[in-house]
Amino acid sequence: KMDQFISSLMQKMTVEEKIGQLTLYTSDLDVTGPTIRAGYKTDIENGLVGAIFNAYTPAYTRKLQDLAVKNTRLKIPLIFGYDVIHGHKTIFPIPLGESASWDLNVIKNGARIAAAEAAADGLQWTYAPMVDIARDPRWGRVAEGAGEDVWLGSQIAKAQVQGFQGSSYDGNTILACVKHYAAYGAATAGRDYNTVDISTRELWETYLPPFKAAADAGVASFMTSFNEISGTPSTASNYLTRDILKKQWNYPGFVVTDYSGIAEMVQHGNVANEKEAGEAAINSGVDMDMQDAVYPTYLKKSIAEGKVTMATLNDAVKRILEAKYKLGLFADPYKYCNEEKAKTEIMSAANLDAARDAARKSFVLLKNYQQVLPLKKSGTVALIGPLGDSKRDMIGNWSAAGDFSKAVTLLQGMKNVAGASANIVYAQGANITDDKDIARQLNEHGGGITALNADSLLKSAMEIAQKADVVVLAIGESQGMTGEAASRTDISIPQSQQKLMQAIYTLGKPVVLVLMNGRPLTLNWEEAHIPAILETWFSGTEGGNAIADVLFGNYNPSGKLTMSFPRNVGQIPIYYNAKNTGRPADPANKYSSKYLDSPVDPLYPFGYGLSYTTFSYSRPTLDKTTMKVADKLNISVTVSNTGNYDGEEVVQLYIRDLVGSVTRPVKQLRGFQKIFLKKGESKELKFVLTNNDLKFYDINMKYTSEPGDFKVFVGPNSRDVQEANFKLIK
Ligand code: IFM
Repeated sequence: KMDQFISSLMQKMTVEEKIGQLTLYTSDLDVTGPTIRAGYKTDIENGLVGAIFNAYTPAYTRKLQDLAVKNTRLKIPLIFGYDVIHGHKTIFPIPLGESASWDLNVIKNGARIAAAEAAADGLQWTYAPMVDIARDPRWGRVAEGAGEDVWLGSQIAKAQVQGFQGSSYDGNTILACVKHYAAYGAATAGRDYNTVDISTRELWETYLPPFKAAADAGVASFMTSFNEISGTPSTASNYLTRDILKKQWNYPGFVVTDYSGIAEMVQHGNVANEKEAGEAAINSGVDMDMQDAVYPTYLKKSIAEGKVTMATLNDAVKRILEAKYKLGLFADPYKYCNEEKAKTEIMSAANLDAARDAARKSFVLLKNYQQVLPLKKSGTVALIGPLGDSKRDMIGNWSAAGDFSKAVTLLQGMKNVAGASANIVYAQGANITDDKDIARQLNEHGGGITALNADSLLKSAMEIAQKADVVVLAIGESQGMTGEAASRTDISIPQSQQKLMQAIYTLGKPVVLVLMNGRPLTLNWEEAHIPAILETWFSGTEGGNAIADVLFGNYNPSGKLTMSFPRNVGQIPIYYNAKNTGRPADPANKYSSKYLDSPVDPLYPFGYGLSYTTFSYSRPTLDKTTMKVADKLNISVTVSNTGNYDGEEVVQLYIRDLVGSVTRPVKQLRGFQKIFLKKGESKELKFVLTNNDLKFYDINMKYTSEPGDFKVFVGPNSRDVQEANFKLIK
C-alpha cells in the first residue's frame, strides 16, 4: 500500500517538488547553527521544503504545516525535527550521565518520555541518539554520548532507538536520527569539527558498531558528521554512506546532513563550489540537505548536466516520503498538533518522577572516605558554590525546549529532602569562572556567567562554612562549557572555583564535593584532599531533588563511569580497552611505555563507582576450560553485600583474546548485570559467552573468532577484576 501510494505520488511530482522534499530548514524559533534562511516560510508555500527543524508547539507547527498542506499543489506534509537529546521539556540527565546508570530500562524509558513529550508538542523527529564513541574529554560533545566503550555504546544506542521510536508511530513516538556518522568523536586533539584520521580497522572496530546497532534496531534516519575522515568529509563519503550503510547494511531509512554540512565542503577543500558539494553529497547517498539550500539551488542543474541521475534523486525522495507515510502524516498532517494532549503529557508528575529516578541512578560516587556520606538530616549544612543554586546549569546543554526556570536546584532539593530538621544555608562563594575571555564567549551564546566580586563572594562563603557542621561544595562547569563547540584544553575545575574549594578545605570541616559537569575532569587535588566526591553531571529538571536524595541517604548511589577520568590532559586519549604494546608500562623498566611525569593509568577507570555499602566478589568460575565455537561458556560469580546499606551494584564482565591475527585490547566489556542486594545478602550470577562475543575483524578484515587462549574478568570496574581462563577450539 505504501509503495503504491508513494510511487503514484512521485509520478505527479516535478523535479523541483522532488528536490523540495530533500530540503530541511530551521525555523527562527530556535537556532542551532550558524545560518538562517529568511524566506523559509515562502519556500514552504512554494512546495520547496520537505521538513522543518527547531519549530515546536502544536500551535506553531500547525501554522507551518498549514503553509505546506493548504498552499502547495501536492499537499505533502512537513516533518518537524528537533534536538530532543535528553528530554524535551522534562529534562533528564545528559546522555553521558544517563549512560553511567548502566540501566538500559531507565535509558529506554527516558527516550520514550522524551519522544512522548516531543510528539505532544508537535514534533515527529529527534536528532538523537548521538552514538559517537568518545575517548577525548577535551571534546565538548562527550556530554551527548554514552562514553568510550563500543559494546556498551551499542547496547545503549539500541535502547535509545527503541525508546524514541517504540514499536509503531502511534502519535506518542517519533523518528530517531542516529548521529554523527561517522567517527566525529575522534576529532584530532578534541577540537570540535577537527580532522579525523583513523585506520579502516579503527573505524570498523570502534566507531561503526553503535551505528550498526542503531540500524539493526530500525533507526529511521542517519545524520552525517561534520568531520572529514582520511581526506573525505563524511557528507561526501561514498564509502560510509553509499557502500557501507546503504549497500552492505541495506539500510532503508534516510540520511540527512548536519547543519550546513554540504556547503562546508568548500571550506574543507574537497570541492570547488557549492554545486559540486551538492553533487558529492547526493551521489554519496545523502538524502536530505540540512539548512544549506544547496540541493534546491543547484541540484536541478546538476541533473540536467548528468552529474546526478534521476534514479539517485528518486531514491532519496522515496526514502523521505516513506518516513512521512509511516508517521501517518499523509493520513493526517496534524496528527501531532494536539493542544489538549500537550497540556497533559508534558512535564507530568510521572515524567518528573522518572527524571528524578534517572538522575539518581546516573550519579557516580568517586570517593567516600570514612563514610562522610550520607549526611544526617540535622545540624547546619552549608551549601557553597556557584552551581548550588543555578537553574540554568542544572539542565545542561542541548536541553531542547527545556525550561530552566522549572529546574530544581541543589539548594531547593536539599531543603525539600532534608526538611525542617536540618538548617541548610547557602553562599555562592565564587564565580563559575573569572576568566573573562571564556565568560565572554559563553555569554555571547546565552551562557549566563555573572562576574561578581570574587573577594566578597569568598568572604561570605567562609563565614557560613565556619559555622556549619558540614560543607557541600557544588562546583564544576557551567552548562555552556560542554556541548557543541565547547572544547577545552584544560579540563580541570575552573580556577575561580578551585580557589574557593582550597579555602574551604583549610577550615578542616567535613567537605562533600558535588560535581556538575559534562565531561571527565582532572581531579588530582580533589581526590587527594576532599573526603567525599559525588559526580552528578548535569542532572536535569529534577536534578536538585535527585542529588539531595543521594546526599541524605534516601538513595544509595550505584552509577559507574562510562569514560575514564584522566589524571592530566597529557594522558588523553585514555581508555580502558587499549592495546598492550610491545613494552607494557613497568616502573622498573626505563624502556617501557610510560611517562616520566605521570602514571599511565587514569585517576578513575572505566566502570568505576562506589556505593554507601561494599560488595565482595568471588573468583569467576567457568563450566568448561575448553569451548567449541558452537558452545556456550557459562560463567558464575558470587557477589555479596558486605556493608551496612542495601544497594545496587553493576557487575561487569570483560574478556581478553590473548593471541590474535591482529593484536587485541587488554580488556573488552562483554556483559554486565545491575543487581540489588540487601545488606548481608549474596547472589550467584550467571553470565553466558558465545562465539559471537569473541569475534573481531581479523587480519583480512573478516568478522570472526580465532581459536586460542582467552581470559575472562569479572569485577566492579575495569581495573579491580578477578580472572579465569579458557581455550576456544574449532
Ligand atoms: O543535531 C544537531 C547536530 O548535532 C549539531 N548541529 C546542529 C544539528 C541540528 O540542530
